[in-house]
This record gives sequence, structure tokens and C-alpha cells, in this order.
Amino acid sequence: MCGIVGYVGPRDAPQVLLAGLERLEYRGYDSIGVAVQGEDRLDVRKVGGRLPQLNALLAEQPVHGPCGIGHTRWATHGEVTDSNAHPHVDCRGEIALVHNGIIENADQLRVRLQEAGHRFVTETDTEVLAHLIEDAPGDTLEERVRNALQEVVGTYGLAVVAKDDPGKVVAVRRGSPVLLGVGSGEYFVASDPTAIAEYTRSVVYLNDGDLAILEADGYRVLDESALPQCRVVDEIVWDAEAAALGGHPNFMWKEISEQAETVANVMRGRLFHEGATARLNGLNLTKGDAESIQRIRILGCGTSWHAGLVGRHIIEELTDIPVEVDYASEFRYRPVTATPNTLTIAISQSGETADTLEAVRAAREGGSRVVGLVNVVGSTLSRETDGGIYLHAGPEIGVASTKAFTAQLVALLLFALHVGRHRGLPATTGRTLLSELQRLPEQVARTLALGPQIEEVALDLLDARSAIYLGRGVQHAVALEGALKLKEISYIHAEGYPAAEMKHGPLALIDQEMPVVVLTPRDRVYHKVLASIREVKARGGRLIAISTEGMSEGIPLADHEIAVPEAPSLITPILTAIPLQILAYHAAILRGCDVDRPRHLAKSVTVE
Ligand code: BG6
Repeated sequence: MCGIVGYVGPRDAPQVLLAGLERLEYRGYDSIGVAVQGEDRLDVRKVGGRLPQLNALLAEQPVHGPCGIGHTRWATHGEVTDSNAHPHVDCRGEIALVHNGIIENADQLRVRLQEAGHRFVTETDTEVLAHLIEDAPGDTLEERVRNALQEVVGTYGLAVVAKDDPGKVVAVRRGSPVLLGVGSGEYFVASDPTAIAEYTRSVVYLNDGDLAILEADGYRVLDESALPQCRVVDEIVWDAEAAALGGHPNFMWKEISEQAETVANVMRGRLFHEGATARLNGLNLTKGDAESIQRIRILGCGTSWHAGLVGRHIIEELTDIPVEVDYASEFRYRPVTATPNTLTIAISQSGETADTLEAVRAAREGGSRVVGLVNVVGSTLSRETDGGIYLHAGPEIGVASTKAFTAQLVALLLFALHVGRHRGLPATTGRTLLSELQRLPEQVARTLALGPQIEEVALDLLDARSAIYLGRGVQHAVALEGALKLKEISYIHAEGYPAAEMKHGPLALIDQEMPVVVLTPRDRVYHKVLASIREVKARGGRLIAISTEGMSEGIPLADHEIAVPEAPSLITPILTAIPLQILAYHAAILRGCDVDRPRHLAKSVTVE
């Protein structure tokens, strides 16, 4: 996934573009570039590398002008080189464009264009678009862009400028997120609102097939039949400050540290004590709808898939509905068995992950109603579902998801309570859960305060080549998430396992070098987990135990013990996940890793 930005207005465009690219870097950060239209000229500056390298190039070869586009890349086609960086241009260098997505028929188009005499200078799929527009009929840039795209198969969020149509940015959306920013006398294009929040809070989310034309005196939106459209102007609910570091060393630590507030934000206005339930108006699920559900299917990728695994335990416990959890990337190619009354829950922080979007479309084709658990307001998933729950966790910039995960778990608790109460869950159970949820923000704050102790424990992972995470029941999913966090940001190989599975194979990996993180909160399988601990310790494994406060006997044999506040077993995953986030964070920092932009990853992947 990449980030695109564009600007038309009175300011010096490079300044706006660079500020936007800085905010978009979490979407992809292996190469970066801008194209700026000045007096009768179009200048492109791009590098294989990051913002500091581009700034250095611009210091040497400055560009200025009121109109331009920019791009930060997560390579899909072609290596990470200066030439493969965006923007890409046509043969004469008079058309420049930036692209987020994949052109599936690029190879065929490239052959045809080369036979027609076009000279290609990159290995990217995107470059074909510049040459297609160069060849396309039309008096205006928007006409030529539209005609050129008739031949294109694939996904794109696109912004284009041309020397012979000055002061204009043309933006197009198909499959990748594109929004417009509406300022006073200035207009912006961006992949997400964080890129332009410091300039305007008024945004227009483009629909698939939309083409927008931005000029100094205004913007127009045409649909795929070139008919003028009046799209809603939405207001961004959070300010630029929320997307800034706010004094924290990096976004991941900021987002970990915000979790006492973010779990409270998910619950704000949704704890309905009179009804002993959760008020979830956005879900659009009537009592009848809730009563008719026969099966629930949860879809997601990465951390969102792990949230789904926790969600299965929560929903099956609070409702009598069987739940299955699928990797979205796998589900979309499974022959969907269209069982009636299957509700699909799609979990996605960004709401833009291509695999999850396509899985949702497959589920709908299979006749399933779909609700979304989404953090980004106005994202594609939020607009392609029958209802949903916004997490209100604020922008999550760090590539490794943290606050969105705990917010997803709270949202799943509210969902299960809401549906459960519609299906006969006793009011007493509802009230107990509501009062336990009210204690959660304070319990999260106390768990965050364990940071310094966990930082000490992270020293034990400094030289580890591998690690194993163990949990049982709902804590198995937390173990998987803990292992993912360590992999994502510290590059230490790690695996999560159901604790009882150790003796069926992985126990062979245990020796003095192998750190083993065990989730042992006081719950109904606690004693079973102790047995696994003994098996590991007997083979010399180094044990880090995540337990519950007040367990006077402590965790026998543990080398390190981190005790989180006591809570009901369905709420405890929120508390046990946080020490694993902090453990991975400090291990990565100790190893000198860039926790916000781990290598080879991106915040959400909008290409398959
Ligand atoms: C990956 C992110 O690209 O996508 C993960 O690095 C995330 O952090 C996963 O969990 C799924 O993203 P989303 O936005 O669909 O929850």
C-alpha cells in the first residue's frame, strides 16, 4: 500500500506535499517523490529512500509552484530504486502521476505501448498509465485520464498533473481509498485524512469510479459515466494533534500509552445500564435480526484476525451462537456455503485492507449480512457493510496495531452483550459485565504502569533468535498476538501455541536459549497451564509469565512474572495483551529497530 497526496492553491505546493507525505509514510516507506507544476514547467523529484533523502534532494534541486502531487511507496512491482519511485511520467515528461494500487494488465499494456514506440524507464506497473494518458484522446486532462483508464484492469488511487493543463490535479478512485480536502481557496487529494488534517477538516470521500478535478477556483466530481456528482462533505472527527506524536518518542509508544483513554472511547455513550445492555445504534440490528442469527463468521487479517479469535470466545460465551473465524485472505477463495442467517463480522482497523474487503464482497454474494468493526471513519469497509461499530480509537499510525486491538476486543464485548441480551442473556449478567467494563480504563492504566518492570524483562529477549508464546482458551489468541507483535517490530521469530499443544511437538524446541512467554491469568484453565509450565521448565526453558494480581502463590518456576489487574476471563485478554505489546516494544527498541516503520510492512495492505 502506498500514500498519495495532491494540492492546488495559493501555498507553495512542495511544503504541503512534504507535510502530507510525512503523515502518510506509515502506509509505505521504501521510496518517495513529488511532481510540482511551476511557471510553464513540470518538475519531478524522487528517491529510493525516505523523507530525509527527498528533503536533501529538494535542498539541492528546489522546486516551487501552486500545484503538485506526492507519493510514498510500498513496492509491489519493481525493486526499491530512484527510478521506480513515483511520480511516473510519459515519454515527454509532461504528464506526471502517483498511484496506490495494482494494474493487473500492465504487462500486456506495456508490450502494446512499447510496440507503439513508447520508451519505458521503470519496472513498475504504474508507468503504463502515464503513457496511456499520453496517447489518449481528449481536450482536457480529465478527458484523457478517463479515456486512458478504459483499458486498465486493476485497482488505483490516482493523482495526475500535466504541463499543458496547468493548475489542475485530476484524481481517480477504483479500489484504493482517495479523498479530497476542501479548504478555503485551496484543495487537496489524499489517501487518508491524516495527510491534510493540519490544513482542513472538511473531506469528501470518493466512491469507486469517481474522477475529481481540483483547480484553484474549486473542485468537481464526475461519476464513471462522467456525470457531475455532489458528494457529501464530511468533517474529520479528530484534529491534527491526534495524528501527531504529542511528546512521545514514536507513534507505537504513544498508541500503547493511550489505551486507558481509547478503551473508554469505545464504550462512551454505549453502556446502557437501564437496559443492562450495550447501545449500538450503528449496528442496524433489530431484536428480530439478532434472534434470527444462526451462525456468526468473523473475518480479518493480522491483528484483526487475532481479535476475531478472542471474539469467538466472547460471543459464544454471551450468546448461544456458534462462531467461526477465518483469515479474510483465505475465506475469499473458499467456496462460500450460503447458510441462511449467517451474520458476518468484518474486523479491520483501517477499513481498507484489500483481502478483508474482497472477503466481505464474497460473503455478501453468499447472502450474508455483514457488519464491520472499523476504526477509520468513512473508510471503504464502513461504507460497504450493513452496519457496524466504530472503535473511536483515533488515528493509529504505528504499523504494528496496538490500541486498535484492545479497542476491537471492547467492541466485541459490547456486540456480544447487545446480541446476547436480545437472545435472553439475563439482565444480571448484563449488569455485571457493564460494571466490570466501567472498571476497565483504570485497570488498563494500572497495567500500563507495569512498563518499567516489563522493560527490564525485555532484556531477556535481546539476543533471542526465537521465542514461544503459550496460552489456553481465550488466552491462546492473545499468545498469537503477542508473538505477532514481537515478529513485526523486533524481527525475532516467534510462535504462539495453545499451551497443551507443546507436548505434541514444539516442546522439542525448548532449551536454555528459548524464551517462553506464558499467559497464566487466574481462570478456569490456570491449573492446566501450570502443567505446561512445568514441562517447559523441566527442559530448561526461560519463562516469562503474565499472571493476575493477588495470586499469592505466584507462578512457580517463572523467571519473570508480570501480574495484571484481576478481571473476568472475557475482559482479561485486554489486560494480558498490553504487557505483550510493551515487551515487544522494548525488545525492538533495545535491538535498534524502527518500531513505527518495521521493514517490509505497511499499515494496511490495499493490494492483494
Ligand atoms: C497489516 C498491519 O498490514 O494489516 C497490521 O501491519 C494489521 O497491523 C493488518 O493488523 C490488518 O489491518 P486492518 O487495518 O485490516 O486491521
